Amino acid sequence: MGGGVAVIPTAPERPRNRDSHYPYRFDSYFHYLTGFVEPEAVLVLVAGDAPRSILFCREKNLEREIWDGFRHGPDGAKETFGFDEAHPIGQLDEMLPKLLADQPSLHFHLGADSAWDARAVGWLNSVREQVRSGIAAPGAIQDVRAVLDEMRLIKGDEEIATMRRAAEISAAAHVRAMRQTRPERREFEIEAELLHEFRRQGAQAPAYTSIVAGGGNACVLHYVSNDAPLRDGDLLLIDAGCELDGYAADITRTFPVNGRFSPAQKDLYQLVLASQAAAIEQVRPGSHWNAPHDAAVKVLAQGFIDLGLCQGTLAEVLEQESYKRYYMHRTGHWLGMDVHDVGEYKLGGEWRLLEPGMVLTVEPGCYIRPADDVPERFWNIGIRIEDDVVVTESGCEVLTHGAPRTVAEIEELMAQ
Ligand code: GLY
Ligand code: MN
Ligand code: MN
Repeated sequence: MGGGVAVIPTAPERPRNRDSHYPYRFDSYFHYLTGFVEPEAVLVLVAGDAPRSILFCREKNLEREIWDGFRHGPDGAKETFGFDEAHPIGQLDEMLPKLLADQPSLHFHLGADSAWDARAVGWLNSVREQVRSGIAAPGAIQDVRAVLDEMRLIKGDEEIATMRRAAEISAAAHVRAMRQTRPERREFEIEAELLHEFRRQGAQAPAYTSIVAGGGNACVLHYVSNDAPLRDGDLLLIDAGCELDGYAADITRTFPVNGRFSPAQKDLYQLVLASQAAAIEQVRPGSHWNAPHDAAVKVLAQGFIDLGLCQGTLAEVLEQESYKRYYMHRTGHWLGMDVHDVGEYKLGGEWRLLEPGMVLTVEPGCYIRPADDVPERFWNIGIRIEDDVVVTESGCEVLTHGAPRTVAEIEELMAQ
């Protein structure tokens, strides 16, 4: 049976304190389908005999536009964005029961927001009240995200072009950060350099809170306070990427505060770099999701044995997972509108196969805390190298090569 109605609201504005709001960010699903960036908007897609797209949005309001800026209004939005219909957002609750009448299903992000759940139940109950006039209410409610997630997982050419640009801007920000780093500057000064480059090149915001972690702070995986002084002889780990037109980049680079790797730092850095190369080698159509992780772990585990950080044979270290003491996270995630993007990782209980148009990060690392049974030269070294990779027909394309990655490239840049 055909038909069905999908209802996709954008994100609410969120108050920060009193009259101030957090910078507005639309809902990713809504933006994926509409490109519309104003708050207080809902997309309704009607399937069946009379298929159409309907936008509900804020009306034009000269008084509010003087204070808060331009609004398209329903007529303007219809004209500019090509919706089949557009109506004032105030008419949503009145129109939805009519649109849902005699439709087999409602497709909705059930469970994402209790206020929206209650509204959806209200629309359904309004339709049910009309049953004695011969009107049928939808018999099924489906999670609209299941379909959209699979669509979003495979990026089209235009999406990849935007992600390539987000990656370029983010790589330039990492280069700027490397150039500006020196002993006794503080982590937040380097964070400011990243933000400066993102915004200077037109990115709207960071895609996530930047991690700028000197020395042992790099061993805190989600370190975001970014307020410590940078010390001569330490490494600096930066995990930062911008959001451009709704799409994220996600890059990590680790480099010496004074511009030269120490022998111990270099040993571990080369190991992480080799594990990343082995992982990227596995990114091609037909490879399964976990192949890059398996490849990275194998290289890291052997390296930890060779450097005296893990004991036993490779098979034992992998079997007992003793490498997890130093490498406890996974090697990547889907990347797209959300930094940890949508899409299943397994299908039918098996790791899914990579396909052209999928974008993922490859981000192995090692994090070594001081301990009596750990060689002291490795204490407080945290390293991660993270790049963004698109699966292509023939293999993969690394989007983030603009940020230097090898020891020689990094030391050369920092010597300038
Ligand atoms: N920046 C978040 C991550 O690397 O997963
Ligand atoms: Mn990542
Ligand atoms: Mn990251």
